[in-house]
Amino acid sequence: MSALSSRVDTLAYRKTIGLFATGVTVILAERDGQIHGMTANSVTSVSLEPTLVLVCPSKQANMARYLTTPDAFFTINILSEEQELLSNYFARWRGQDEPPAYRLIPWPSAGNVPRLDGCLGALACQVYRVYEGGDHWIVVGEVLDLYRSEGPHRPLLFFAGEYHQLRRQEPEHVPPSADPYR
Ligand SMILES: Cc1cc2nc3c(=O)[nH]c(=O)nc-3n(C[C@H](O)[C@H](O)[C@H](O)COP(=O)(O)O)c2cc1C
Repeated sequence: MSALSSRVDTLAYRKTIGLFATGVTVILAERDGQIHGMTANSVTSVSLEPTLVLVCPSKQANMARYLTTPDAFFTINILSEEQELLSNYFARWRGQDEPPAYRLIPWPSAGNVPRLDGCLGALACQVYRVYEGGDHWIVVGEVLDLYRSEGPHRPLLFFAGEYHQLRRQEPEHVPPSADPYR
């Protein structure tokens, strides 16, 4: 455990890092036959070979117990712009206590963990490594299987503490390459 305290104001940090726009996911995991869901945007692609992705659950979150279990399966479900209420529900935001209608689709590649119907895409994962990350865990998952909806793909976005929708920007200078990492 680090004895370091923050050098910056944590509210100011949240407001600043919140300017980094992200998509929104719901992580699903299973324990003793119970499926648990948590809204998360701390999802980052890590590696292609092996294929690894990370998510950071708060140590305070119920989800932490699921994702720090060795070899546990989980799914990362990428929300569409129509799934804002689901995001609120799985974040347990006030005013969203009643579950909106949703359907879980069995996904044998992810053990007993299903995927969420209506999402743009989903990753079936298994816990590969867990690292300390201050008051969060850094959970690296090995990606076992993929799901992609047919589209059109209209993602739910999160920016500055609010939901947004995607607007396509016409390229002004350099035409985008098919692979932005080349
Ligand atoms: C857009 C959005 C993104 C979030 N991302 C995370 C995240 O990456 N990690 C996290 O621990 N909580 C995140 N949260 C908060 C959790 O969803 C929330 O604390 C939830 O109540 C945790 O549920 P649990 O304790 O039952 O597992 C996010 C919430 C929202 C609305």
